[in-house]
Amino acid sequence: MLTQQADWYDTPLYYDIIFDQDTAKEAAFLEALTVKHSDAVSGQALRILEPACGSGRLITELALHGHQVSGFDLNEHMLEYTRERLKPKHLKAALWQGRMEDFALPSSQSFDLAHCLVSTFKYVLEEGGALSHLQRVASSLRPGGLYVIGVHLTDYANEREQHERWVGERDGVQIICNTHTWPPDRQARREALRTRLRITRDEKTTVQETRWQFRTYNAAEMKRLLKKVPALTCVACYDFTYDIASPRELDDSYEDIVLVLRKEG
Ligand SMILES: C[S@@+](CC[C@H](N)C(=O)[O-])C[C@H]1O[C@@H](n2cnc3c(N)ncnc32)[C@H](O)[C@@H]1O
Repeated sequence: MLTQQADWYDTPLYYDIIFDQDTAKEAAFLEALTVKHSDAVSGQALRILEPACGSGRLITELALHGHQVSGFDLNEHMLEYTRERLKPKHLKAALWQGRMEDFALPSSQSFDLAHCLVSTFKYVLEEGGALSHLQRVASSLRPGGLYVIGVHLTDYANEREQHERWVGERDGVQIICNTHTWPPDRQARREALRTRLRITRDEKTTVQETRWQFRTYNAAEMKRLLKKVPALTCVACYDFTYDIASPRELDDSYEDIVLVLRKEG
């Protein structure tokens, strides 16, 4: 079967079928973090910013919970998909095209919570861009506001290729997603990835492939980066089980880490 090269973010539905599966759990976890680590009270309507908001799965879920949501993304297809999914639910969100490295807010606002899950922060490939991103998010938060980042930490000792597989289905469209990660290049702080989507709809199957790179972080590299942004303090860590009752340390004993950064002031 012919494999098409594509940017999988140009086909938001296929991305969403795979990644939407944890959305409700992630949204509830983000809300619980604001109660535990900032002065928000349970049930309070929050002003929330999502850098690189993608297909809008969390934008939509959090808007449904009554929060005031804003987001931006590099990819116009993702933004359009988000706008279209909000419409039938009569939900509103401020959405605009922007890059994590140099985004600007469309109006002067200050947020209670910003979040960037599922390793998206690692798309920022250079240290300067990562610092600029963190500083811009810090400026967008009110004092006491939180920035929650979920990333897969890199184990530089691992020299094997890694593979993950997810399957999802919606309205007769089946997606099998195979993601392959090559061993990291520690010197360059890069890892190469490839995602192959096997898409079956209307009894036809096609395969599309995307290749990209992530910046790598182990716990020490993440700590060094955060130290350069004094406006944000790491107040807690969790893992991708999203269990508010089970905080972790920022160390290399696990790979899927959720950092809770608080704007002091
Ligand atoms: C893994 S998806 C995450 C989307 C969403 N945050 C979520 O949790 O489902 C990554 C998103 O990052 C966007 N992206 C990649 N690099 C970016 C950059 N430098 N600035 C802004 N968006 C970027 C892609 O277009 C894509 O929508």
